[in-house]
Amino acid sequence: DRLRSRGLGDVYKRQALSIDNKNAAPVGVFDSGVGGLTVAREIMRQLPNENLVYFGDTARVPYGSKSKDNIIRYSRQIIHFLRTKGVKAIVIACNTASALALDVVREESDIPVIGVVEPGARAALHITHTKKIGVIGTEATVQSAMYGKIIKGLDPTVSVIGKACPLFVPLVEEGFAKHKVTEEIIDYYLASMKHSDIDSLILGCTHYPLLRSRIRAYMGDKIQLVNPAYETAMDLKHILQESGMENAGKEGEHATYSFYVSDAADKFKQFANSILPYDIETTQQINIEEY
Ligand code: DGL
Repeated sequence: DRLRSRGLGDVYKRQALSIDNKNAAPVGVFDSGVGGLTVAREIMRQLPNENLVYFGDTARVPYGSKSKDNIIRYSRQIIHFLRTKGVKAIVIACNTASALALDVVREESDIPVIGVVEPGARAALHITHTKKIGVIGTEATVQSAMYGKIIKGLDPTVSVIGKACPLFVPLVEEGFAKHKVTEEIIDYYLASMKHSDIDSLILGCTHYPLLRSRIRAYMGDKIQLVNPAYETAMDLKHILQESGMENAGKEGEHATYSFYVSDAADKFKQFANSILPYDIETTQQINIEEY
């Protein structure tokens, strides 16, 4: 009996340990580069106890001009890499990969995988009164028409217009958010949206929130900007809560954040430090093609 109860005790202890381990496991977050940091910082804000492992595919950015096959291949490799870090859930913090690869990789995964497109679509539906919504994003995201499909699936009376703004990504990455040429490019891409009857505009690329104040100044007060990051972090919170995987944290301990890239680690680190609420110490470069 003593032996048996000791055996059971061990089993319970092991179970308790594995539950604890699972909850303390990090959430994987990835993007083609730095854009996904706008989603990561929202997760840090809303879920301060969650440990994060971020991967930015800086060697293969931009995704916005790549084929669906390649974006699926890249996403699979990144998910393999993140799994080696023991992640309990994955957030695809990239609209392009969410629009083109989420369905496939979610099907293949035994842990929750969430994207930014569905939460962004829902957020815009809550905001719109006129039921006319604009979406800006990369060429691949706009061509996929995924925002329109999801929005119309939820409310077929809504109309959605899309516009690809491919130059916004390099403008952000090269630190041109405040430069005067950015205004001209915003006007070039968004003049038709500004004069349309939309009342909400989805920032359907994770780089675009970094141009938010410029876009808002240009579009005026009548058009509300929608950043899918907020709703995405809420979705993550619900999923972790529902599956009992939330990290309650430990008193006096901070969440840990690790950053990996496929190239130019120093440039990434500098950028991250300019937009995150704290300074990251290290960014590690890995060879993503090995995964
Ligand atoms: N951050 C990516 C997105 O949200 C776009 C950048 C890229 O083209 O790689 O779609």
